Order: sequence, then C-alpha cells, then structure tokens
Amino acid sequence: MATFDTTKQEFKDNYKLLIGSVVPRPIAVVSTINEDGTSNIAPFSFFTVVSANPMIIGFTPMIRSSDGEQKDTLKNILRQKEFVVNFVTKHNYEKVNLCSTELPHGESEFDFAKLTELDSEVVTPKRMKESPIHFECKFRDSLSYGDVPGTGTFVTGEVVRVHVEDELLDEGRIDQDKYAPIGRGAGNDWIVCDHRVQIERLMKAQIQK
Ligand SMILES: Cc1cc2nc3c(=O)[nH]c(=O)nc-3n(C[C@H](O)[C@H](O)[C@H](O)COP(=O)(O)O)c2cc1C
Repeated sequence: MATFDTTKQEFKDNYKLLIGSVVPRPIAVVSTINEDGTSNIAPFSFFTVVSANPMIIGFTPMIRSSDGEQKDTLKNILRQKEFVVNFVTKHNYEKVNLCSTELPHGESEFDFAKLTELDSEVVTPKRMKESPIHFECKFRDSLSYGDVPGTGTFVTGEVVRVHVEDELLDEGRIDQDKYAPIGRGAGNDWIVCDHRVQIERLMKAQIQK
C-alpha cells in the first residue's frame, strides 16, 4: 500500500488524493451579489450539510491558484452576508460547468453560461432558474485556514428559505429519480447519481422514517 506524507508533498499532489478519495461530492452552485450590484455564480464541490436544527450548510472557496486571490464568491459573502445555493442535475450540469469559468471582473457568469436569474424571497442574490431546488442562505460564520493558493475558507450559512419544484415533491420528500442529481468526481468527472441501493438500519424510529 502506498503512503503519502501530506505534510511534505506539494498541495497539488494532496489535492489529487482529496478529490479522488472523497467522491462523489455534492455541488453547491453559489450565487452572490458583486460590489456593483450585479450577480455572480460559481460551483463548489467542497460542500456539505452542517446542521439540521438550525438548518446550516457549508462550503469551501479556496484561494485561487492563478493569482493567489480570494474568489469573488467569498469576497461577496463576507461583504454582503447572503447567498443562494442552487443544485446540479442531469439537466443543467453543462451550464454549471460553464459558470465556473474565471471571467474578467464585471462580466456575469449567468449571461456567459446562459443561466436565468430568478428573484429570491428574502435575500438579494438571485436564484438559478435551471436548478429545481434553491436554498436562500444568511451568512453565519467563516473559518480561514490561511492565505496561500489552495487554502480553504469554510463558509457556513443558515438556510432561511427552500424552494423545490412542485413535480419533485412527494409528501415533503424529494423524488430522487425526478431530481436526477449529479456529484463531482476526480479531475473533470461528474457523477450521475442514478443507481441507488437500499438497506434498513437496525434501529428504532429516526427522522428519515
Ligand atoms: C464542479 C466544480 C466544482 C468546484 N468546486 C470548487 C470548490 O469546492 N472550491 C473552489 O474554490 N473552487 C471550486 N471550483 C472552481 C470555482 O467554481 C471557480 O474557481 C470559479 O471561477 C470561482 O468563481 P468566483 O471567483 O466568482 O467565486 C469548482 C469548479 C467546478 C466546475
């Protein structure tokens, strides 16, 4: 078995081990408001659920390798304190990939990726119409692990509104076949989550019942 001393090797080599091991990763497509009031949107696969009560999610923008700067998403959230998480499906992932392009400041990824902006109910950042689920979030806290390329800042947000397409809903649950979610794999892999197996847990009533 190969062993890697992650404290001694380049971050790019650690990155390959991370993204090849932690799969599939859910993807948050995060929309925020730029300083000039325009919309910004970008995908983040370092994304997870943090708390159900209160309802909190978290994701990690890393310091950009190309210029050593914080990503616009992080700057916008730290300034404006709100964001929307949109989700990736079989029907929108190609457009989501396009919106990860680093565009010159002021150019909208919504326009570039031909994504449609929808007003939110309680936050200023827009929802992405092509996503069947939207989480409107208020910034809770952030934890930065440094300021060199590849360093993450974990950002959490409280989900204050959830919007779900009617046709996906079945008595408060989300129909996974209709949803057709996609996760992130290693390299340029996207993983279609359309093969599920079911197994009962050996315990009494749980919230998933
Ligand atoms: C599927 C996918 C997942 C990504 N996940 C992350 C991530 O977790 N963290 C990160 O810093 N960048 C991630 N990126 C790259 C960002 O989306 C990209 O740097 C984007 O331009 C950032 O935009 P911003 O500067 O407007 O925030 C990902 C890209 C793709 C296509």
